[in-house]
Amino acid sequence: MSAAASPKLVRLDGIGKRFKNRTVALAGLELTLRRGDFRSIPGPSGCGKTTAPRLIAGLAEPNEGCVA
Ligand SMILES: Nc1ncnc2c1ncn2[C@@H]1O[C@H](COP(=O)(O)OP(=O)(O)O)[C@@H](O)[C@H]1O
Ligand SMILES: [Mg+2]
Repeated sequence: MSAAASPKLVRLDGIGKRFKNRTVALAGLELTLRRGDFRSIPGPSGCGKTTAPRLIAGLAEPNEGCVA
C-alpha cells in the first residue's frame, strides 16, 4: 500500500495560531499526515515551524481550525 493510500493519522484543517501579543504564528495551515509519512517543515526563523508540531502534539491550541 502506498503512503498516499494509507489512512489519515492527523489532519490540520484551516489552522490559525496567534499569541496573546498578537503575533500570528500560523494562518490557514492545511496538512494531512498518513501512516509512513516523513515530512519536514522548511522555512525561515519565526515562520511557525515549531508551533505546527506543538499543535499536533496538543501542547498548544489553535485559534482557528481544528486538529483531528
Ligand atoms: N509563546 C509565544 N508567545 C508569543 N509569540 C510566540 C510564542 N511562540 C512563538 N511565537 C512567535 O510565533 C512565531 C512563530 O514561532 P515558531 O513556531 O517558534 O517559529 P520557528 O520555529 O519557525 O522559528 C514567531 O514570530 C515567534 O516569535
Ligand atoms: Mg523553531
